[in-house]
Amino acid sequence: MRCLASLLVVGVSLLLLAADGESQQPITWDFEDAVAGKLPSGWSASKTGTGEGSVWRVTSDADAPGGANVLTQCSSAGPNGLFNLCVADVTRLTDVDLTVSFKALNGDLDQGGGPVWRYQDADNYYVCRMNPLEDNFRVYKLVQGRRIQLGTANVEAPAGRWHTIRAVQQGNHIQCYLNGKLWLDVKDDTFSGPGKIGVWTKADAMTEFDRVLLMPAGADASSGAFNDLLLRQQIAAIQSRLPDQSHAMRDVAYHFGNLWFAADLQNWPLANFYWKETQAHLRWAVAIKPVRKDAANQVIRLHDILQSMEKTQFVGVTSAIEKQDRQTFQTAYRQTIEACYDCHKASAKPYLRPQVPQHPPEPIINFDPSAVWPR
Ligand code: HEC
Repeated sequence: MRCLASLLVVGVSLLLLAADGESQQPITWDFEDAVAGKLPSGWSASKTGTGEGSVWRVTSDADAPGGANVLTQCSSAGPNGLFNLCVADVTRLTDVDLTVSFKALNGDLDQGGGPVWRYQDADNYYVCRMNPLEDNFRVYKLVQGRRIQLGTANVEAPAGRWHTIRAVQQGNHIQCYLNGKLWLDVKDDTFSGPGKIGVWTKADAMTEFDRVLLMPAGADASSGAFNDLLLRQQIAAIQSRLPDQSHAMRDVAYHFGNLWFAADLQNWPLANFYWKETQAHLRWAVAIKPVRKDAANQVIRLHDILQSMEKTQFVGVTSAIEKQDRQTFQTAYRQTIEACYDCHKASAKPYLRPQVPQHPPEPIINFDPSAVWPR
């Protein structure tokens, strides 16, 4: 509970920081909180063209600049006309200052890749990419799925090593940097509105991406669009660190288990404490995920189930503790266990069958009400 409280405090202070106008910090995706073998949450794979390919996963690379986790295009199946895309869902910016680190791993038809921005859909966006097979660095637009070159430069950035591409667009002015040096400077009016950002490879190019950095730029920096995005990104990061429902339910079980022994030894102030904690943690567990699906895929509202328990079984436990009546308490406790189980069954988890505990979960608290040490 305490660690949760401090997590929330960290969250709130992050939010205050952002609201304070500390907008010069970039929005950063380093994928360190993401689950290996899956798409990072908040990112979606798509493709321009048809064919197999565009399989994106979080993988690990000890050399990566933003910690070991990286986002990788893992498929070698892509045909020549296919572009593999992975985009950040919440981003909607017009002017961007976008930096990505990448390492080309493999590919017979193509290698390398780079960032996309002002992404409207899988057929319409800007992309800047490095190709270590051709030793060239280019910026394109994709219009209705057709790729049109806007600029090119001959430059080397060998596969198997980390490099950075930075793409800056303000209004119709696009500038692209490779490893810190400006190579491409073009103007284009095709996409003037906001879009998502993401990463891109071609055909069978298997490439790792890391440290996607988005800085405020141009009109979006002054309009607040960037700050809104920063806030949403931070909230998502905080939410991903919050415990899940099963974790909170462990806390319920812990307090509820201790409650049995406190009441059994007629330590009523301690029983009252554990009962209050049980109820608070149950409410919190339900708040984490208030709606679930049952075995038949029907929506079940945990909040409603809890509310009805609060009006029935909980009243019995509260009044037994108030009356300091052990026998009534034990009956009410068992009825509550049955209600706990009703909710587990409704949640399609009939194997979570609770029982009257045999040992107090808490070893360090003395449940004996007549204990005299420590004084
Ligand atoms: C409103 C519905 C609901 C009520 C009431 C409820 N539970 Fe749960 N409980 C769940 C759900 C749902 C899960 C599974 C969570 C998951 O897997 O994400 C769960 C999981 C658990 C777990 C397993 C946690 C783990 O991962 O090891 C325990 C233990 C538990 N509950 C105890 C209790 C006890 C004790 C009570 C009554 C005091 C209770 N629950 C009341 C819905 C409920």
